[in-house]
Amino acid sequence: MQIKTLVAAFAVALSMNAAWAQAPIVIKFSHVVATDTPKGQAAERFKEQAEKLTKGRVKVEVYPNSQLYKDKEELEALQLGAVQMLAPSLAKFGPLGVKEFEAFDLPYIFPSKAALYAVTEGPIGKGLLKKLEPKGITGLAYWDNGFKIMSANKPLHVPADFRGQKMRIQSSKVLDAQMRALGANPQVLAFSEVYQALQTGVVDGTENPPSNMYTQKMHEVQKHLTVSNHGYLGYAVIVNKKFWDGLPADIRAQLEQAMRDATTFEKAIAQRDNDLALEAIRKAGKTTIYNLTPAEQAQWRQALLPVHKQMEGRIGKDLIQAISRETAKK
Ligand code: LMR
Repeated sequence: MQIKTLVAAFAVALSMNAAWAQAPIVIKFSHVVATDTPKGQAAERFKEQAEKLTKGRVKVEVYPNSQLYKDKEELEALQLGAVQMLAPSLAKFGPLGVKEFEAFDLPYIFPSKAALYAVTEGPIGKGLLKKLEPKGITGLAYWDNGFKIMSANKPLHVPADFRGQKMRIQSSKVLDAQMRALGANPQVLAFSEVYQALQTGVVDGTENPPSNMYTQKMHEVQKHLTVSNHGYLGYAVIVNKKFWDGLPADIRAQLEQAMRDATTFEKAIAQRDNDLALEAIRKAGKTTIYNLTPAEQAQWRQALLPVHKQMEGRIGKDLIQAISRETAKK
């Protein structure tokens, strides 16, 4: 073997040895829901894929159920670089100054999942993620958790039933307007505080997809559920921009592939997990589950659709109209 080849082989061995010897890049992925939810499962799938595709050069530490940070704290921690990855609800970006994400909270804005994906996977969704960059955040993907139902300790059949009810919401001005349009009193609480607030009567009721209600045992402290599907709950998977831009290009490409895999997986399980959670709540037998009649649904829409116009000044009339045009095609 020529000297030249020997030297080249030795250099490769050295560089591999150096790479192997290097400590792995650690990604702390914090979130606020249980592992046994669509988001929780997708975070684990991302961990698995990221560590496999980077051959151990990246280690993902997942911190579920608000173990590391609660709602508001987690966004601050990401911007400080104390964690590298989050997947907050789209209803939680208003306090960051990116109010446009609250368009996802508008009642009945998505007539179907297909219509939702047309927005999140098209130019509107991409444009919204771009708005995070001036905040030092890079948006990687959208994850899904389906449509929300309502719960309380009294039946919620028509809007008048909400009058005077203290209803927990996420930190979204659209959700505040939604609950006020129903005659309820909205109260922002961190997700980790909802169960205790319901149990102690700090709030009377709340809204969430079934998977969140079931995994936080909210059905054990709520006597009535209404399968309203009045609004949507989804997530933006985000990273600290400085961290992400500082990654070696090959590792970043492998992590992007891991994120694509996890996103495909998450979309495939989201609806099933929520259907199973609603069934499990029914089987637990502690909560009455009510389906609205068409006449009642019409009353809910009549009460809630004016929120779109009311929120034009906050979200942007153009954005609301662009979403409506996009969803109308589906
Ligand atoms: C909530 O706060 O109700 C949800 O955003 C929690 C979650 O991340 O699904």
